[in-house]
Amino acid sequence: MTEPTGAELGKKTAAAMALGHVQGGMALGLGSGSTADWFVRLLSERMSQENLDITCAASSKRTETLALECGIPLRPLDDFDRLDMTVDGADEIDPKLDLIKGGGGCHLIEKIVAAASDTLVIIADESKLVPVLGAFPLPVEIATLGWETTMRRIAEVVGDVPLERRGAPVLTDEGNYVIDCRMGRIEDAPALASALNAIPGVVEHGLFLNMTSRALIGSADGTAHEVLRA
Ligand code: A5P
Repeated sequence: MTEPTGAELGKKTAAAMALGHVQGGMALGLGSGSTADWFVRLLSERMSQENLDITCAASSKRTETLALECGIPLRPLDDFDRLDMTVDGADEIDPKLDLIKGGGGCHLIEKIVAAASDTLVIIADESKLVPVLGAFPLPVEIATLGWETTMRRIAEVVGDVPLERRGAPVLTDEGNYVIDCRMGRIEDAPALASALNAIPGVVEHGLFLNMTSRALIGSADGTAHEVLRA
């Protein structure tokens, strides 16, 4: 594979830094998306070089397919009592390390996997760092049954912002729809998360609050650094 450049190099460098937190014997959650893909590939190389005994749970069909192609042993999430660590990407990361995730429509399982993990390590290129969440459209996964009704309830919560059902139709791995809410700026993420959680038909939203242990940020110059919670 040719060596990546620009943002792609930042993603790979962040993924490589996350490998430093991996030890033999760990149970790992594998996130989803292009940055998590780098971690899966690099993890596979390290596991074979060092003969590491690591078992993983995948957070999407895409990641499951890649991990199996790379020879990483997978088990269903339910086989684990706890995971030691999950490594995943993000669409936005604020100074408190709160996140928007779900650009790939995988945030439901990603959140279940992250919540089952002792630590959540986020890997990203530096474009994902933002002062305030909300420029990236917030994904809200909803049940297909009654989806237009649920979308009206979401509109009552988020106010006068554009809502779009993604795809025609794009379903998640779990067979649900995703509504993207173009918030622009989220002033009170905990209040928004609670309000969305209270709507029947909302399966899961892409706000990951108070879940991240550390964020590893890669740059286009091939360096990476750790961002701690402000
Ligand atoms: C998947 O649904 C998302 O939560 C991804 O983790 C997120 O979109 C980051 O993806 P990239 O690493 O491809 O930017």
